[in-house]
Amino acid sequence: MKTAMVWGADGGIGQALVNNLIAAEWEVFAIGRHADRLSPAVTHCLEADVNSEFAVQNVALAVGYETTAVDLWVYAVGDITAVPVRDMGYGTWQRIMQANLGGAYLAAHHSLPLLAPDAHLFFLGAVSERLRLPGLSAYAAAKAGLEAFAETLRKEERRRKVTVVRPGAVATPLWEKVALKMPKDATDPEKVAGRIMQAYHEGHTGHLDLAH
Ligand SMILES: NC(=O)c1ccc[n+]([C@@H]2O[C@H](COP(=O)([O-])OP(=O)(O)OC[C@H]3O[C@@H](n4cnc5c(N)ncnc54)[C@H](OP(=O)(O)O)[C@@H]3O)[C@@H](O)[C@H]2O)c1
Repeated sequence: MKTAMVWGADGGIGQALVNNLIAAEWEVFAIGRHADRLSPAVTHCLEADVNSEFAVQNVALAVGYETTAVDLWVYAVGDITAVPVRDMGYGTWQRIMQANLGGAYLAAHHSLPLLAPDAHLFFLGAVSERLRLPGLSAYAAAKAGLEAFAETLRKEERRRKVTVVRPGAVATPLWEKVALKMPKDATDPEKVAGRIMQAYHEGHTGHLDLAH
């Protein structure tokens, strides 16, 4: 049985991915900050806010008791705000940077010892160059940084695959956090989950552009 570890498993894309993995009979370690939102079908539910290194470390320790050969690792945590720099407090800036970038480092750093030698890591990014719009400075900077982080990690972890998924608009609760209208043609999270699984099976590495 293959093993997966999904951070942000209580989010729209995270939940779709976990459901897809369970249907395919994977063993899944699902991590979110709201355990009650995790699918009841998940046997390994773990709670962590990626603002806390202690919490991230505890999750890694708990998973480490069960396995040290995670095949598929996904960072699907994310947060967004749309506030101009002149109005954005430092706390807001830090929240967005931590959810999208700092937490990706923490989760990866503490998870690497648990991964199989040929494990595949996925980070949920975005089409970062299209995000450089008024109000999105923190989100755009974090997603651009995430791409640089993942590219560097790929060069360090040469036996492993590292993919940055760059979806277009996806119909998830993320859109409720900004006063922006979700595009009518937003993709279903299940479709994104399916593309991640396809990329895993095809051994993809690099950017996975899903925007149309
Ligand atoms: N939806 C889109 O259109 C879209 C497009 C491109 C890329 N993405 C990216 O895809 C990823 C998944 O997003 P989604 O669309 O599935 O949105 P989502 O439903 O809002 O999921 C994001 C998840 O991250 C969690 N999270 C936020 N801050 C956290 C923290 N400090 N610690 C732990 N968990 C935290 C959220 O929990 P809370 O609910 O408690 O905040 C939520 O469960 C994100 O990185 C997002 O940027 C989404």
